[in-house]
Amino acid sequence: MRILFIGDVLGRSGRAAVTRYVPRLREKWALDFIVCNGENSAGGFGITEAICEEMVNAGVDCVTLGNHAFDQRETLVFIERQPRLLRPINYPPGTPGRGANLFTAARGQQVLVVNPMGRVFMDAIDDPFAAMEKELGACPLGVACDAVVVDMHAETSSEKMAMGHFVDGRASLVVGTHTHVPTADAQILPGGTAYLTDAGMTGDYDSVIGMEKEEPLRRFIRKTPGSRYEPANGEATLCGVAVEVGGDGLASMIAPVRLGGRLRQEWPQEWGAP
Ligand SMILES: [Fe+2]
Ligand SMILES: [Fe+2]
Repeated sequence: MRILFIGDVLGRSGRAAVTRYVPRLREKWALDFIVCNGENSAGGFGITEAICEEMVNAGVDCVTLGNHAFDQRETLVFIERQPRLLRPINYPPGTPGRGANLFTAARGQQVLVVNPMGRVFMDAIDDPFAAMEKELGACPLGVACDAVVVDMHAETSSEKMAMGHFVDGRASLVVGTHTHVPTADAQILPGGTAYLTDAGMTGDYDSVIGMEKEEPLRRFIRKTPGSRYEPANGEATLCGVAVEVGGDGLASMIAPVRLGGRLRQEWPQEWGAP
């Protein structure tokens, strides 16, 4: 089974990369399942129903979120009727929407996607490790599903790496999001789980983590806010990770994907040039 995960889609340029590349990659690479983090897709802050539908129509099977999940108030309502949209699973009980769901992939495979969020240097929410334990217990890999994809949305590399080891052998892929910068540690952990600390953002890298540079610079230098943050609108690099999953649900290949924009281009050699 071939899975593509796409990191935090940032604003208009990030969305343009999704609609440009996803249909092409799905066909060219014969992808079975595509997950995309959409927490910054609406002008950098949250997601709208129209944008979520645009991503699903482009071929994204599941859209995950993070600390920006509810920046757009409409998300509190439409998330209840959009089973392809997940918010962090360890929000307190009663939060609208769901943090995990079981999907049917291209050739009928059952794929569980879970979206835990870290707590180090982030808002204090429920324990993401306990939440993962509960989900994996309810839907074990190789028994109740053919693949498990975990988007660990967190600030620190340590918390993401710890989550990778925590579910090693019990998930197909653990990939980090939120920092908007790709890391170079794609690997298959000893138990067979594909792991990457951060997928990086799908956005314009001539920016401060996706935003026009002027305002972030002003706030760092002067410590006084001037205007609102605006997404940088140069060509985005679609950033993510490609994973091949075997019949046992464990990974046999992981490779970074970086297409378009300013970053050096990367794709899985095994799958061919996009
Ligand atoms: Fe983000
Ligand atoms: Fe985030």
